[in-house]
Amino acid sequence: MSSKQPSTIYLEDYQPPAWLVTHTELRFELEEDQTLVRAQLSIQSNPAVSDRRKPLELLGDAGMELCRLSIDGQVLDAADYQREAGCLRIANVPESFVLECVTRLLPHENTALEGLYKSDGMFCTQCEAEGFRRITFFPDRPDVMSIFRTTLVADKQRYPVLLSNGNPVDSGEDDEGRHWVTWDDPWPKPSYLFALVAGDLALLEDQYTTASGREVALRIYAERKDLDKLDYAMQALKDAMRWDEDVYGREYDLDIYMIVAVDFFNMGAMENKGLNIFNTSCVLAHPQTTTDQGFQRVEGVVAHEYFHNWSGNRVTCRDWFQLSLKEGFTVFRDAEFSADMNSRTVKRIEDVTLLRTAQFAEDGGPMAHPVRPESYMEISNFYTLTVYEKGAEVVRMLHTLLGPELFRQGSDLYFERHDGQAVTTDDFVAAMETVSGRDLSQFKRWYSQAGTPRLQVSDSFDAATGCYQLKVRQSCPPSPGQEHKQPYHLPLAVGLLAEDGRELFAGLLELTEEEQVFRFDNISERPVPSLLRGFSAPVKLDYDYTDAQLLMLLRHDTDGFNRWDAGQRLCIRLLQTQIRNHQQGVALSCSSELIEAWRNLLQDASLDPAMLAQCLRLPSEAQLSELAEQIDVSAIHEAREFMRTTLAQVLEQEWLQVYQRCDTGETYSTDAEAMGRRSLKNLALAYLMATGREPWLELARQQYSQSDNMTDQLAALSLVAHSDFRETADELLQAFYLQWQHESLVMNQWLSVQASDPSAGALARVNQLAEHPIFDARNPNKLRALIGGFCGQNPMHFHAEDGSGYAWLADWILRLDRQNPQVAARLLTPLTRWKRHEPVRSALMQGQLQRMMDTAELSADVYEVVSKSLM
Ligand code: TRP
Ligand code: ZN
Repeated sequence: MSSKQPSTIYLEDYQPPAWLVTHTELRFELEEDQTLVRAQLSIQSNPAVSDRRKPLELLGDAGMELCRLSIDGQVLDAADYQREAGCLRIANVPESFVLECVTRLLPHENTALEGLYKSDGMFCTQCEAEGFRRITFFPDRPDVMSIFRTTLVADKQRYPVLLSNGNPVDSGEDDEGRHWVTWDDPWPKPSYLFALVAGDLALLEDQYTTASGREVALRIYAERKDLDKLDYAMQALKDAMRWDEDVYGREYDLDIYMIVAVDFFNMGAMENKGLNIFNTSCVLAHPQTTTDQGFQRVEGVVAHEYFHNWSGNRVTCRDWFQLSLKEGFTVFRDAEFSADMNSRTVKRIEDVTLLRTAQFAEDGGPMAHPVRPESYMEISNFYTLTVYEKGAEVVRMLHTLLGPELFRQGSDLYFERHDGQAVTTDDFVAAMETVSGRDLSQFKRWYSQAGTPRLQVSDSFDAATGCYQLKVRQSCPPSPGQEHKQPYHLPLAVGLLAEDGRELFAGLLELTEEEQVFRFDNISERPVPSLLRGFSAPVKLDYDYTDAQLLMLLRHDTDGFNRWDAGQRLCIRLLQTQIRNHQQGVALSCSSELIEAWRNLLQDASLDPAMLAQCLRLPSEAQLSELAEQIDVSAIHEAREFMRTTLAQVLEQEWLQVYQRCDTGETYSTDAEAMGRRSLKNLALAYLMATGREPWLELARQQYSQSDNMTDQLAALSLVAHSDFRETADELLQAFYLQWQHESLVMNQWLSVQASDPSAGALARVNQLAEHPIFDARNPNKLRALIGGFCGQNPMHFHAEDGSGYAWLADWILRLDRQNPQVAARLLTPLTRWKRHEPVRSALMQGQLQRMMDTAELSADVYEVVSKSLM
C-alpha cells in the first residue's frame, strides 16, 4: 500500500481567504547551483471575512528551503511559526503587515517542471495550478489577487534576457558581470499567472495597434536556431488580437505581449499575464519542419492563450473547481476563431471527433467528473477533456440557446461585472440569465452532472393530416458518485428533408423533459430527420435510420456537419456488423452500397477536398472502442483493416485519380484550401498503400523525396514505415533521421511514427528507441511521442495478449512518477479503461494497476488515478 494517502479537497468546503496580499515584491538571484528568492508580501486581513483572529497560513512546498522570515522587519525564529506538510502557520500577526521571506531553490534539479526550473539552459516557470508554492510561501489560490513587482538578477552573458509579467521599469548591472531587470505588472493577478524567464534568447518583434489606439510591442522569444520558425505564430497572434476586438470587443491591456518557446513543458502553453510560456511544439512552425496539423495547432494555441487575457486573467477563477470557467470558455473562443480563419465545418468535425473518442471515453471511465468537479486529490489531474472540450460545448450550447447577439451581451456583462474578480461558473451563467431574461437553472446541470447523455429519437408521420412528430427521450448513465441524473436542458438543431433532399423544415428545438414530443404541421411527405445538426449538444443520439436514409443525408443534407455524420453513422454500423462477424468466425464483407456511395464522392470533383477527406476517413479504432459494449481490440482492428483494404482495392483507380487531382505541384501554403487538398491527397495515398501493391510504394517514395514540406514528407514516411515493405521502411526512416536529427520537434514525429508502427516486434522497437541518443526521458514531448505513441496509437501491440504492453507502461509510470508526476499520471490513462475490455486483457490491465497501487511511494497525481481506477 502507498504510505501516504493524499487528502481530498471538496468544493463544498470552499471558504474565502482570511488574508489578502495586496502587493508582492519578488527578487530572484538566479545562479547556477541555486536561486535565492526574496518575497515581500503586503498582507492584510480580508475585510469580507469576519473571523479576524485566524492565524496566517501560507502554502509552501514541503521540500522548499526557508532561509529567513520576518514581519515588518522583525526576524522570526523557529518558535514563532509552525511548518508542516506544505503549510506555514504564523499565529498572532497584525491586521496588516509586510512579510518578508527568503527561500532557496534548486531549479536545475527540478524535473517535475512545476515552479522554477531549467529548460535547455534557460530558467522558466510554470505556476498553474499550484506551482507558485514551490517558489515562495504564499496563499497560492486563485482568489488571492496581488500586484506583482519582480526583479531578476543573473549573469549577463549566460542570461542576457530577463523577463517577467507586465512592463520593464528599471534595469542595471554590477561590476561582476551580473545584471538585473525590474518588471511591474499593474493588473492584480493570482499567483498562478506569475512567470519569469531568463536565458540567451533570440526574438522576433512586431507591433500591434489596438482598436482604441494603444501601441503594443509583440515579442516572440526562442532559441536562436529557431528564429526562422516564429512568423506564423506572430501572424496568428495579430489575427487573434483583431478577432477578439471584432467578435468580443476585448482589447489588450499592457504595452508588451511576450511569448517564450521552451522545449521542456508539461502541457501545451500557459497564459501568464503578458508573458505566455509555450511548449515549442505549440509555437514553432515552418513548412519544412511542421505539418499542416502542427500549423493549425500553433494558430489555435496562440489564440487560446491570448484569449485567456480576458477569459481567465482579467476575470479569473474563484477556486480550481471553477477551472472550466476559463478553460471551457476559452476553448469555445479559440474554436470559433479557428473556424473563422479556416473551414468552419472541418474544424467542427475535428473537435467533435476528439470529443466523441476521448471525452466520451473519459465520461465513461473511472475518472469521469462533471465540468465543474465536486472534489479532487490533485488538481493537475483535472485539466481534462471534460473541463476543456465538454466545457467548451456547454458554452457553445449557451451561444446556441441565446443566439449570437444575446450571447455577446452576456459576455460583455460578465466581463464588466467581474473585471478584476475571481468568480464561478454560476456567475458566468448568471450574466447570460440577466441579458436573456431566461431561467438557466436547469441548464446548469451540465456543470454538475457527469456522463454523456443519450437521446433516443423516434418519429411518426400522418400522411392524411401532414403531421410529423419527433419523440425524444433523454437519459444519462451513472458515473462515479452519481447514480441518478436529472434531465438536461439542451438545444437540438434539426432539419427535415424530403426523400430527394429538399429541406422541408430547419430549426432549433429545446429539450428540457425526460421525454418530449415535437410536432410539425403541413409536412407534405414523410421526411428524413437530420438530427443534432452541427452537433448542437454533447450527447449520443440514436435514431433508427435505414442505410438508404443515411446515404441520402450523406448526399443532400444542407448541414455540412450532418452530411459527414451520416456517412460516419453508416460506416460505424457496417463496421460493428463486421466486428461481430469476426468474433463469430463469419467471413467479413463490405457493403456494395457503401462502395458505390464512396465512388460517387470520389468522382465528384466539385466537392470541397477538406470535407471529402473527412467523409472518406473511417472511424478510428479508438472511436469504435468507445462505442463498443465490451472492447475487443483485435476484432475491432481486423474489421476496420478489412474494410479499409476492401475500399482501397475496389476503388483503386478512383483513389489514384483523386491523388492526381490534388497533386497540383503548387508551392506550399497554409491556407485552408491548400491544406484541404493535401489532406485528401495523403488520404488517397494511404488507401493506395493499403492495397499493398508495389507501384504505390514507388509513388509514396517519390512523394517522400520530392515534397517541399513536412506534411507530405511525413505522410509518405509513415505510410511506408507502417507497410510490409520493411526494407524501404528502414531506408526512409534512416534517411529521415539523418536529415532531421537536429530538429527536436521533427524527431518527436520520427519517434511516434515508429512507436505506432503496427508490424511485428513493436515492443522491442520502442525499447530500442528509448535508448536512442535523441530520446530524453526528462522531456515530456519525447515521452508523449514514444510512450503515448505506443500506448495510444498502436492498439494491437499495447494490448498484446501476453500483457507485455501493459507491464511496459506500468514500468515507465513507476519510473516517471519520481521524476514528473503530472506527466506520469497523464500517460497512465490507457490502463484506466481496463473495465471496458474483454476479460483476458481486462485482468491483465487490472493486475498492472494493482502492482502500481502496491508500490510504496506514489505521487498524489498517480495515486489518485490508480486508486480511482481500481474502485
Ligand atoms: N492554462 C493552460 C492552458 O490551458 C494549461 C496549463 C499549462 C497547465 N501548463 C500547465 C495546467 C501545467 C496544469 C499544469 O492554456
Ligand atoms: Zn487554457
